[in-house]
Amino acid sequence: MATCRLTLLYAAAVVFSLYPLPAASRLSPNFYDDACPRALPTIRFVVFAAIAREPRIGASLLRLHFHDCFVNGCDASVLLDDTETFVGEKTAGPNNNSLRGFDVVDEIKTAVNFACLGNMVSCADILAVAARDSVVALGGQEYEVQLGRRDSRTASLDDANKEIPAPFFDLPALVSSFDSHGLSIRDLVVLSAAHTLGFARCTVFRDRLYNETIDPDLARYLQLQCPSTGGGGDIPAPLDRTPATFDTSYFEGLRQNRGLLHSDQQLFAGEGGEAAALVRYYGERVEVFGVDFGDAMIRLGSIAPLTGDDGEIRENCRFVN
Ligand code: HEM
Ligand SMILES: *[C@@H]1O[C@H](CO)[C@@H](O)[C@H](O)[C@H]1NC(C)=O
Ligand SMILES: *[C@@H]1O[C@H](CO)[C@@H](O)[C@H](O)[C@H]1NC(C)=O
Repeated sequence: MATCRLTLLYAAAVVFSLYPLPAASRLSPNFYDDACPRALPTIRFVVFAAIAREPRIGASLLRLHFHDCFVNGCDASVLLDDTETFVGEKTAGPNNNSLRGFDVVDEIKTAVNFACLGNMVSCADILAVAARDSVVALGGQEYEVQLGRRDSRTASLDDANKEIPAPFFDLPALVSSFDSHGLSIRDLVVLSAAHTLGFARCTVFRDRLYNETIDPDLARYLQLQCPSTGGGGDIPAPLDRTPATFDTSYFEGLRQNRGLLHSDQQLFAGEGGEAAALVRYYGERVEVFGVDFGDAMIRLGSIAPLTGDDGEIRENCRFVN
């Protein structure tokens, strides 16, 4: 009797594993395990090599995933080139002359198509994995990336202009932007700490530099680089003290009024408030920050993916098939 019940249970388990829930509509960390076990190690190898050549590229790859996911979901729309008949997202205000790393994405795609003996891995998944590998390469915590996204056949310049938060946003606008993408105020604070990596141009922090309260040492240094009027708009400054190390110095900087962007400093505007409490909390807990950053990246990476038969796997990340 007991054996019979066990057999039934076993049979049920087999049936359910043969006919899983609409698996294609969900992301999974094992998506490429059978089809191309070399996919993830290959991406990591190319990302680590690119960062060894130029540490900033890790920051640039992380940002690409963010700018992809906030515009109609993580579907690699950000990677599509403009053509004579098509306008993509690359010249949107937040992206034009600003996004970097497209050549490294091409390099990854070529390497992965080679390692997988074919066109197997979506450009959207490449962005998600490259973002994670960049964090790890620069000292951040490992986390498991969800996979199975497919690539869009479209992009939207208008939506890129609308959906990506601007550096002049105040806290309520930042909270509302993240909320409209299904992300909490905690996600906002944790993910903003991606600015522990990389650089911003004079043109996006000039107003803060000359019209807002900012740590005087930092102000003196930055004012030499970034004049109040005229040129110098493209001159880069590090977003925190250690732009090639994934650490908590972004949070420490905010507490010292050293946030480079207006939007950064808004997270610690005054002592009170939930965002400021989170800045203090994470600044003192590097391990918790590492884990929570990974969790928040998984939520970011799960925004409206194309799955199943939707979209396509692009052969070349710059063009639809
Ligand atoms: C909270 C709202 C955010 C705003 C307003 C914002 C704005 C900006 C701006 C203005 C820059 C500099 C661009 C330039 O000078 O060309 C920048 C750089 C960067 N952002 Fe954000 N960002 C935000 C959130 C995020 C998030 C969520 C991530 C990733 C998870 C991220 C990752 C980065 C990185 C890594 C860089 C440096 C890129 C490089 O050096 O190439 N940002 N961001
Ligand atoms: C993007 O930048 C280029 C080069 O700086 C400029 O000529 C062009 O007008 C910009 N495009 C848009 C849509 O702003
Ligand atoms: C600072 O603010 C003043 C008054 O709002 C404005 O006229 C000026 O252009 C601003 N300066 C910079 C560098 O943003």
